Amino acid sequence: MDTTQAGRYAGKVAVITGAASGLGEATARLLVAEGGHVIIADYGAERGQAVATSLGDAARFVQCDVTNEADVAAAMDAAVSTWGRLDGAFANAGIVGVIGPIEQTPMDDFDRTIAVLVRGVFATVKHAARQMIACGNGGAIIATSSTAGVQGGLGPHTYAMAKAGVIGLTRSAAAELAQHRIRVNAIAPGSIPTGMTAHVMSGDPDALDKATAQIAATSPLGRAGSPNDIAETALFLLGNAGSYISGQCIVVDAGLTAGASMNSRWARTGMVVAR
Ligand SMILES: NC(=O)c1ccc[n+]([C@@H]2O[C@H](COP(=O)([O-])OP(=O)(O)OC[C@H]3O[C@@H](n4cnc5c(N)ncnc54)[C@H](O)[C@@H]3O)[C@@H](O)[C@H]2O)c1
Repeated sequence: MDTTQAGRYAGKVAVITGAASGLGEATARLLVAEGGHVIIADYGAERGQAVATSLGDAARFVQCDVTNEADVAAAMDAAVSTWGRLDGAFANAGIVGVIGPIEQTPMDDFDRTIAVLVRGVFATVKHAARQMIACGNGGAIIATSSTAGVQGGLGPHTYAMAKAGVIGLTRSAAAELAQHRIRVNAIAPGSIPTGMTAHVMSGDPDALDKATAQIAATSPLGRAGSPNDIAETALFLLGNAGSYISGQCIVVDAGLTAGASMNSRWARTGMVVAR
């Protein structure tokens, strides 16, 4: 590893699950552009290998299904056996999972969704902590929640429950791991155009332009977010800039869950004194 390289993630090593596409891929590309080394951990072998190859020596692909604990453990171990350290982990792999009215939800589909979104995140945090504690350099772990985990009505029931659970684990793990100088935080994105959102919006994971236009139309800031907005937040939390932040969930949604569109409606009424 070239430790002389400059950049906001220079000399550091991270594992990112779900890095074969979307938010994970954007974060992997940013960390490498900023001097870091990254394990691309994903169950999608073809796409994951292609992303790793495009990043050269600074990235390796490890096939990893986050529902399989041994795969997750192996991804963390690969970082240390390849580059001798583990500084960051991003528990990001996800699916939308089961969608539909709660009274019709098949429990098998509920279990499969939770296996990825809750069990997978738990295993990622568990094995990242194991390796970071062993390395003794501290570290930073982040996990992808969602605005669906902080406000009702923004996602399917099981997804919303899982994403709220991610925030619970973030606080709980942060409280334990501070003694090892390991920080744990979550990111809750609003709708960002990726294969996942395009698929939900139009049934076509490649219809990114259509998803981008649809999201922009309802965004308080008048534009759709991009995977790079999440990647920059991830770098902030994983890197030196966020080094005193732990146990937090950063919402990245253009102010939507803060009520941004409602506030703008109140502001448009002009200045009056309510009696
Ligand atoms: N895009 C959004 O609007 C949005 C909003 C809120 C939260 N999120 C969350 O962001 C994360 C990334 O989603 P995205 O939008 O980039 O979607 P995406 O479909 O582009 O990427 C998800 C990645 O996770 C991988 N994956 C899925 N199941 C896996 C498993 N069991 N093991 C390993 N890899 C697996 C997929 O192969 C894919 O590469 C997810 O956790 C998602 O719930 C996305």
